Amino acid sequence: MKYEISITKTTAPKEHPADESKLGFGQIFTDHMFLMDYSKEKGWYNGRIVPFGPMPIHPASTVLHYGAEIFEGMKAYRAKDNTIRLFRPTENIKRLNNSAERLCLPLLDEEGCLDIFNTLVELEKDWVPHSDGTSLYIRPYLFGNDPHLGVHAVKEAVFAVICSPVGAYYAEGINPVKIAIESQDVRAVRGGTGYAKCGGNYAASLRAGERAEQQGYTQVLWLDGVERKYIEEVGSMNVMFKIAGKIITPALTGSVLPGITRKSCIELIKEWGYEVEERLISVDELFAAAENGTLEEAWGTGTAAVVSPIGHLFYNGKEYTVSDNKIGALTQKLYDNLTGIQWGKIEDKHGWSVKVCEA
Ligand code: COI
Repeated sequence: MKYEISITKTTAPKEHPADESKLGFGQIFTDHMFLMDYSKEKGWYNGRIVPFGPMPIHPASTVLHYGAEIFEGMKAYRAKDNTIRLFRPTENIKRLNNSAERLCLPLLDEEGCLDIFNTLVELEKDWVPHSDGTSLYIRPYLFGNDPHLGVHAVKEAVFAVICSPVGAYYAEGINPVKIAIESQDVRAVRGGTGYAKCGGNYAASLRAGERAEQQGYTQVLWLDGVERKYIEEVGSMNVMFKIAGKIITPALTGSVLPGITRKSCIELIKEWGYEVEERLISVDELFAAAENGTLEEAWGTGTAAVVSPIGHLFYNGKEYTVSDNKIGALTQKLYDNLTGIQWGKIEDKHGWSVKVCEA
C-alpha cells in the first residue's frame, strides 16, 4: 500500500558542498524533507515532501516530555553503473516497525515506506555525493505528537525523513578508533529498549560518551546492564572481535541493537569460511585474549560507521593495543567488500543493493 505524497519544491535551492572531502557527518541537509501525520482516527495521512526547514511543534508534544521517538539510519549511494542505490532498505523498515512496536508508536506499511524513501531520494539525487567514501545519509524518524501531558500510548504522531550528504562518521576515517569500556553508566537492560533504535538510548549514553572523549577516546563500549560483565555494543556501532581465528560478536540478547551492517558482515564472514560465534563475551575473556596475544582484530559495524577498526581498548586503568593500532586484514576485507557492494564496484550476489533511479 502506497501513501499519497504531495511534492512542494523549494524556490531557494541551496548550494551543494564544493569540497566533498570535508562533508563530515550530518551537518549539511538537502533541499527537501518528507513529513506525514498520524492520528488514531485517520491512520497515516498528509504525506508530503516540502522544502527542508523548521517544523512547528506543540509545546506539550509527547516527544518533548516523554521521549517517544524512534529513528533509522540508511544511505543512498552513487553506484558505478550510474544509478542511485539503497542498501537493504527493507531491513531498516522492519527494524523501524519493531522499534515502533516497543514504544507504542504507529507502524508503517513496508511497501509505502519504501516508496517514501525512493520518492525523496530520487528528488534529492543530485545531493548524493560523488567521491569515494561518501553517500547520502537518510534519517527517517517517527515521534509521538499528542498535544497534552498524560502518560499513555500516543494517538498522534509524525513520520519524517531528512537527508544529509556525508563522508566518514569518525574524524579518524578508516583509521583505528580508541574505545573506552564503560564501567559506571549502563545503556540498556533486557526488557528495556536496547534493541529498539530510540532516541532515549542515545540520550542516556551521552554522559559516558562525554567522559570518554575528555579522556581522548572516540566512543564508549557498553557492558551489559545487570552483571556489567558482558560486552554489548559501542556508542554508534555493533562490535566484532577476531580471537584465535574465530569471529565473536555479542549475541542479540534484547539489549543490543540488531544492526543491518552487523547482519551483513556476519553473512559475508561466514561465506568466507570463518566460524562466527554470536554469544555472550565477557570483558575478562576479551582481555585474556588481548594478554595472551589471541585477540587479532576488533572492529565496529554500523550504517554511519560502516566497518571501523578498533586500535585501542581501555578498561579500569588498563589500555590494550589491538592489531598494532592498524586496520587488520579481515577488517579491511570486510570494508572493501561491503562498500564495494554498496557502491556497485563488485558483484552483489545477495541482492542487497536496491536501485532507486538512474543517477
Ligand atoms: C547509524 O549508523 O545510522 C546510526 O544510527 C548511528 C548514529 C547514532 C549515528
